[in-house]
Amino acid sequence: MALSDMTRPQQPCTETRLTYTDGSSRTVYATDVEVQFPEGRLIVSRTDLNGIITHANDAFVEMSGYTREELIGAPHHILRHPDMPAIAFKGLWDDVAAGKKWHGYVKNLRKDGAYYWVYATAVPNIRNGVIAGYTSVRRKPSRTRINELVPVYRQWLAEEKAAS
Ligand SMILES: Cc1cc2nc3c(=O)[nH]c(=O)nc-3n(C[C@H](O)[C@H](O)[C@H](O)COP(=O)(O)O)c2cc1C
Repeated sequence: MALSDMTRPQQPCTETRLTYTDGSSRTVYATDVEVQFPEGRLIVSRTDLNGIITHANDAFVEMSGYTREELIGAPHHILRHPDMPAIAFKGLWDDVAAGKKWHGYVKNLRKDGAYYWVYATAVPNIRNGVIAGYTSVRRKPSRTRINELVPVYRQWLAEEKAAS
């Protein structure tokens, strides 16, 4: 399912045309408003083999800013932030598709254009020895690690843009 363009937020924002791995694209708006990870909670989602969201817990719904109805059936890239380099997600997909666990820091884009950082653990769901889908559980991220990763992700993104 191709996503429709985001609604432009009231706050100052950047406008980016994102093209996703499935070939679809949409215009997203990002503000510099950060929403902190909710204390004492886990943000959980499940996807099918193609990264289509099949389950979202209440914390996921609240943090994303979308309704559960908007999320279920949507591609997980609905949360992709324009500051995230593609290589970060390639690592995730390579690992889970190979049956391995993946850990990483992700900057997510909310429906209102704000962002939130998470420390994610993504795993394949194995049923009868076969990968049936994927689950990601996000915990509160370390601010020190975020500060270390911001320039790294910026560099990777710049290299990807230069190569495209
Ligand atoms: C279980 C699971 C959870 C994911 N969680 C996120 C997420 O929170 N934010 C995000 O931007 N991408 C997440 N992804 C990766 C997306 O499917 C997608 O690869 C990414 O947003 C980049 O978009 P693209 O690959 O369509 O270009 C997740 C994938 C899986 C399998």
